[in-house]
Amino acid sequence: MDDWVKLDRSHVWHPYTQMLEAPPPLPIERAEGVYLYTPDGRKILDGISSWWVNIHGHCHPRLNRALEKQIERLEQVIFAGFTHEPAARLAARLVECAPSGLRRVFYSDDGSTAVEVALKLAAQYWRIRGETRRSLFVAFEHAYHGDTFGAMAAGGIPLFHETFRPLLFEVRRAPSPHSYAFDGGRDPAACEAHCRRELEGILDRDGDRIAAVILEPMLQGAGGMIIWPASFLRAVRELCDAYGVLLIADEVLTGFGRTGKLFACEHGPIEPDILCLSKALTGGYLPLGATLCTDEVHDAFLSRDRSLTFFHGHSYTANALACAVALESLAMIEDSDVLKRVREIESLFRGRIARLRGLPIVGEARGIGAVAAAELRADAASSGERGYLDPRGPRLQRAFLERDILLRPLGDVLYVLPPYVISDEEIHRVFDAIEEVLAEEAS
Ligand SMILES: Cc1ncc(COP(=O)(O)O)c(C=O)c1O
Repeated sequence: MDDWVKLDRSHVWHPYTQMLEAPPPLPIERAEGVYLYTPDGRKILDGISSWWVNIHGHCHPRLNRALEKQIERLEQVIFAGFTHEPAARLAARLVECAPSGLRRVFYSDDGSTAVEVALKLAAQYWRIRGETRRSLFVAFEHAYHGDTFGAMAAGGIPLFHETFRPLLFEVRRAPSPHSYAFDGGRDPAACEAHCRRELEGILDRDGDRIAAVILEPMLQGAGGMIIWPASFLRAVRELCDAYGVLLIADEVLTGFGRTGKLFACEHGPIEPDILCLSKALTGGYLPLGATLCTDEVHDAFLSRDRSLTFFHGHSYTANALACAVALESLAMIEDSDVLKRVREIESLFRGRIARLRGLPIVGEARGIGAVAAAELRADAASSGERGYLDPRGPRLQRAFLERDILLRPLGDVLYVLPPYVISDEEIHRVFDAIEEVLAEEAS
């Protein structure tokens, strides 16, 4: 075993990993395109974009060059009272391509901090306007917004968030239009109508105490790859308008083409008041968060009273290397017609999803853009453990790794979320493996 692998075993605590019984982490020496290479010569297909961040493939020459070019000029500078070209150009570019009305960009470090910024902006916005009662947030069941405290408060996955609940601020929880969980997917319209009524009820009761509604537009990721109808997105926007509440769209996962549009809000289409971006913002290279907001939100903070400043910032705010790579990634999305490729992937996925629906072990198979998911039926042998702790999750993950494919089921939800540079043949290889592994699991 390599020396550094032993050092990892002795000292490193890995995320979302039960260190007592998880298999040892797989060492990765280098990566290229959709493949990860181990020191012992294995070539593993990255079917989940290395935790949903990578879109152009690993170690892309264009992104590498952008990074090299920037590193020769400026790596990092304090962003309070200073600025640099990559941050300014990236902000202008994001404003240009984001849903209209979002004209200001606040940088941070990752998806969770992009969400923290959004929640704090919304809370302080109402305080500054004198509406001090508006400090409640509405968030959805199955929501995942990150692992920092504000993001966890908005989170709706009991397994991840209940331990910390006494420390989290109060949130009104609205049902998510997850029609498979509602009635086995029999009547999606009834599910949506129910969710709309419930949200309206919350806003009716507490509307004047609510600062903002926060949602993952179209696709709730970590909660189980749950796909929403676009009409529900429009309904939420309409209700927020009717009750004068801000709408925060967390596009940390969905941004940059993942659902087939550059931003999932375009499916509505809706225009949020605040938008959170990260993950694929840098093509999957470097951590960077961006929270966009309207002039109305931004301008509320303008004051000669310095105590009304937005007191938030991180050491690495707007890191110059990350901003330069993000700019190049956005240029690549545009000039390589990446969205067209995502639509091709979506149509290939559609055919394979239809086949998955025919398997008895699959309860529901669904997809949007470059995401495909299969929710497994309850398993008599799994002693009641369902959801994220379903023992089939790690078992399936091992079976895929044996086939040199990285898939990491969310318990009983198996999903594919590859870099957009995956080829048609590679897509078929992944789905062939899924059919084979699920057949083994069912036998
Ligand atoms: C929708 C959403 N928001 C926020 C986050 C948190 O991002 P990060 O892990 O970069 O903190 C995630 C991460 O998966 C996410 O899916």
